[in-house]
Amino acid sequence: MKNIFLRATVIDILLWISLATLFSTSTTAGGATAKPGCESKCGELTVPYPFGIGLGTNCSIGTWFDVNCNTTFDPPKPFISTGNLEIIDISNDRLRIKNWVAAACYNQTGNRTRQNPVAINFTGTPYSFADTNKFTVVGCDDLALIRGSGGRNFTSGCLSLCSEREDLIDGFCTGIGCCQTSIPKGLTAFSSALGSLRNHTEVWSFDPCGYAFLGDEDVFKFRTSDFSDENFQNRTIENVPMVIDWVIGSQNCSEAKKSVEYACLQNSDCVDSDTGLGGYRCNCSTGYEGSPYLSPGCTG
Ligand SMILES: *[C@@H]1O[C@H](CO)[C@@H](O)[C@H](O)[C@H]1NC(C)=O
Ligand SMILES: *[C@@H]1O[C@H](CO)[C@@H](O)[C@H](O)[C@H]1NC(C)=O
Ligand SMILES: *[C@@H]1O[C@H](CO)[C@@H](O)[C@H](O)[C@H]1NC(C)=O
Ligand SMILES: *[C@@H]1O[C@H](CO)[C@@H](O)[C@H](O)[C@H]1NC(C)=O
Ligand SMILES: *[C@@H]1O[C@H](CO)[C@@H](O)[C@H](O)[C@H]1NC(C)=O
Ligand SMILES: *[C@@H]1O[C@H](CO)[C@@H](O)[C@H](O)[C@H]1NC(C)=O
Ligand SMILES: *[C@@H]1O[C@H](CO)[C@@H](O)[C@H](O)[C@H]1NC(C)=O
Ligand SMILES: *[C@@H]1O[C@H](CO)[C@@H](O)[C@H](O)[C@H]1NC(C)=O
Ligand SMILES: *[C@@H]1O[C@H](CO)[C@@H](O)[C@H](O)[C@H]1NC(C)=O
Ligand SMILES: *[C@@H]1O[C@H](CO)[C@@H](O)[C@H](O)[C@H]1NC(C)=O
Repeated sequence: MKNIFLRATVIDILLWISLATLFSTSTTAGGATAKPGCESKCGELTVPYPFGIGLGTNCSIGTWFDVNCNTTFDPPKPFISTGNLEIIDISNDRLRIKNWVAAACYNQTGNRTRQNPVAINFTGTPYSFADTNKFTVVGCDDLALIRGSGGRNFTSGCLSLCSEREDLIDGFCTGIGCCQTSIPKGLTAFSSALGSLRNHTEVWSFDPCGYAFLGDEDVFKFRTSDFSDENFQNRTIENVPMVIDWVIGSQNCSEAKKSVEYACLQNSDCVDSDTGLGGYRCNCSTGYEGSPYLSPGCTG
């Protein structure tokens, strides 16, 4: 078991597999505004300041907040400037991005026929994984390790077993065919990879693959039909977002207020990030609305 883990993690750290993305399913943040003179929409996604559309266009508050709107796709797809992560939604404290799902599949004799570990690294950016994400493993003969870092190093894992399809219970991710574990606040990087105890040889007839992903706990619902669903990986990529916390800078409010770059304008409050990594966000004060980051600030 240890060997599977070790080998899987080495491979895993070496590979940064990006999964191809499908069609875009974006939602809009109501009342949000872009910087004047800047595009406000990429495809279906409304991009409010401090984010801005275009790399190096000065439409965002800083290069990490530039949204790479790729018009090769129709409709265009918005990506985080750090790389190949597609944005689904931007709210005033979080991003939702399209998932990356690790998978391992076996044939009837237990040879691995497919494998893609996943790793994402936000170290040095304003982003971290929100603790509303759970590390989730789906399969009947699967174990997955997640290794990450942020404030401190983090390693955890999940074991998901079952012997018959009849063991599975719809809606319950409690270790029988589905396992979930928490991640710490302020996780900035993670890698995950799958191993198997018996290479699915005893469950292959109804479950040839295992999957692992980090995703919004509130959105993922385990279904016993997931095992026979060849489209499980793609469906999860499409439907279960990763939730990302974003912050301005790395100073807390009391430090930032002394700086010329302090971002919260009139009638707004500074809110310290609770990730333990520093940084803050601005929020319109009670009774005011608008963008706390754009002149003249929030209005009554
Ligand atoms: C970017 O915009 C800011 C105002 O938001 C302005 O002060 C600055 O000069 C602009 N920089 C460039 C390179 O256009
Ligand atoms: C847009 O996406 C296409 C297809 O994935 C890729 O080849 C191209 O480099 C992307 N363009 C930008 C500006 O990221
Ligand atoms: C499983 O894969 C191995 C290696 O690719 C192959 O030798 C074997 O015949 C396959 N078994 C079945 C039942 O397809
Ligand atoms: C497939 O499995 C057989 C029996 O377990 C093994 O002898 C063979 O080396 C495997 N092939 C690959 C490509 O892993
Ligand atoms: C993540 O990126 C940072 C900075 O680029 C680097 O120092 C660190 O080693 C990376 N972490 C992992 C797990 O790859
Ligand atoms: C985390 O692990 C890396 C190597 O895996 C090590 O270099 C680093 O010092 C560790 N950080 C902490 C805070 O333990
Ligand atoms: C599972 O598959 C891996 C890679 O194909 C192989 O190294 C390992 O020996 C297999 N384990 C079992 C129990 O068949
Ligand atoms: C999943 O998506 C990929 C990339 O778009 C596609 O190549 C593949 O055929 C899809 N798989 C299924 C089972 O639909
Ligand atoms: C803000 O950061 C400074 C410098 O790191 C620290 O001394 C201060 O206690 C922090 N304030 C709060 C409210 O966390
Ligand atoms: C931000 O403001 C809204 C509306 O006034 C309020 O509901 C919310 O709790 C505030 N958020 C924080 C983190 O203070």
